[in-house]
Amino acid sequence: MTTDADPEELQVTDAAGNLPLKIAILGFGDRAERLAEHRQSDRQVRVVCVADPRPERRQKAVELFGADCRTLERGEEFYDQSLEVDGVWVISQEKTHAQLAVPALERGIPMILEKPLATSIRDAYRICEAFDRNPVPLVVPHSLRYLPSYRKAKELVDSGVLGSILHIHAIEQVDDHHTVDYYRRGSNMYRSNTTALLAKSSHDIDLINWMMGGVLAQSVASFGGADYFKPRPDLPQSCSDACPQAAACPFFGMDEGGDGVARGKLCAWNSGGEQVDHQTIIIQYENGTTVDFTLACFGDIRRPLQITGSHGTLYATPNDVRLVLYHPSSVEEFGPDRLGTPPAAHGGPDAALVQDWIRAVSLGCETASATVHESAEAVAVCVGAELAMMRHTIIEMADLRQQRPGPEVLVTDQ
Ligand SMILES: NC(=O)c1ccc[n+]([C@@H]2O[C@H](COP(=O)([O-])OP(=O)(O)OC[C@H]3O[C@@H](n4cnc5c(N)ncnc54)[C@H](O)[C@@H]3O)[C@@H](O)[C@H]2O)c1
Repeated sequence: MTTDADPEELQVTDAAGNLPLKIAILGFGDRAERLAEHRQSDRQVRVVCVADPRPERRQKAVELFGADCRTLERGEEFYDQSLEVDGVWVISQEKTHAQLAVPALERGIPMILEKPLATSIRDAYRICEAFDRNPVPLVVPHSLRYLPSYRKAKELVDSGVLGSILHIHAIEQVDDHHTVDYYRRGSNMYRSNTTALLAKSSHDIDLINWMMGGVLAQSVASFGGADYFKPRPDLPQSCSDACPQAAACPFFGMDEGGDGVARGKLCAWNSGGEQVDHQTIIIQYENGTTVDFTLACFGDIRRPLQITGSHGTLYATPNDVRLVLYHPSSVEEFGPDRLGTPPAAHGGPDAALVQDWIRAVSLGCETASATVHESAEAVAVCVGAELAMMRHTIIEMADLRQQRPGPEVLVTDQ
């Protein structure tokens, strides 16, 4: 029997006697380390295998999880081993998710599968089809769904108190250092690997779709570009004392390679990075609701969400919700005092979503996660927005879903 999950209930007790869960982690970058480390120390999971092409990451895994943690060079190899696990966590680079997740689904292995589900509609739908053939407990870490404030916003929207939802307005403000280190230099700078919108804002698009309660996006338009970080002929390609901006540049930095030698980081302007530094999306949903969402690469990491209905407006942030009703007029505030323990006190939404997965696997509860189909829809809207921006046109989502384009359209638009 399954029961509803409460992701804010933070500790699974080992009533069934099946903890710690044995897991394999495919892709062991920063994100995987953060997710696994404290759950291992809670004795809720035991990491028995880590696969990552980077030797230093495999070495780190052995340091953290012990010499009996098996290490592999590629996630794909895990499926050739006869290693028994209770779950697989796919936390590799986004374009590899489908190739690493589909074999787990074919074997019926429960999974945490990082967002964005994939970098193409084709791959996202492959994952959905494999899941439909073999449904398993699965969490996609769209972490905003695990924040009490957005859960309260969802509850208010579903209660009907706002009347007919006419418009949703949302912004994701990424700080400039995050922008530069992830999207101007590093593997996420190339559109053949991902796009800033997929990597950063598939969270926000999922949140908006969630608030829309299953009504699908119908048409998408988008404008944006790299208008600040244009190549600058007056600067060198990498940071060095020879750069005329060396003393003043906020992004000047050195990296120490595996050989211990310090090298200048790629210049934020001349790196060859292909991502936008600002992008706005306009969506019309099938019921007429309109949405505008902006990804802005200069800001203070806020995520304001405003939902306007015929009876009232709701303003949500990661910390609180303000509900304004019109007739009769009233204002209600939901701060941390009313929303419950701030999740940061318990390791944040990441701890809640891992706990949700552990509970689903060990006790058979439903999870509070986005489903793979919902996560695939966030991918579809992001891809639609990219194509709308690249082609300077409106994308009809029904056509796009049917075409199931691969990741190459994000680079070549063919
Ligand atoms: N939910 C969230 O809030 C959140 C936050 C950060 C990152 N993420 C997601 O987590 C994933 C990883 O992000 P990251 O920041 O750790 O990236 P990262 O680049 O630091 O790590 C990814 C790792 O995957 C490895 N890898 C590549 N191909 C592989 C393969 N075939 N088999 C096994 N490993 C392979 C790379 O060597 C790298 O170590 C991405 O999908 C990212 O969008 C989610």
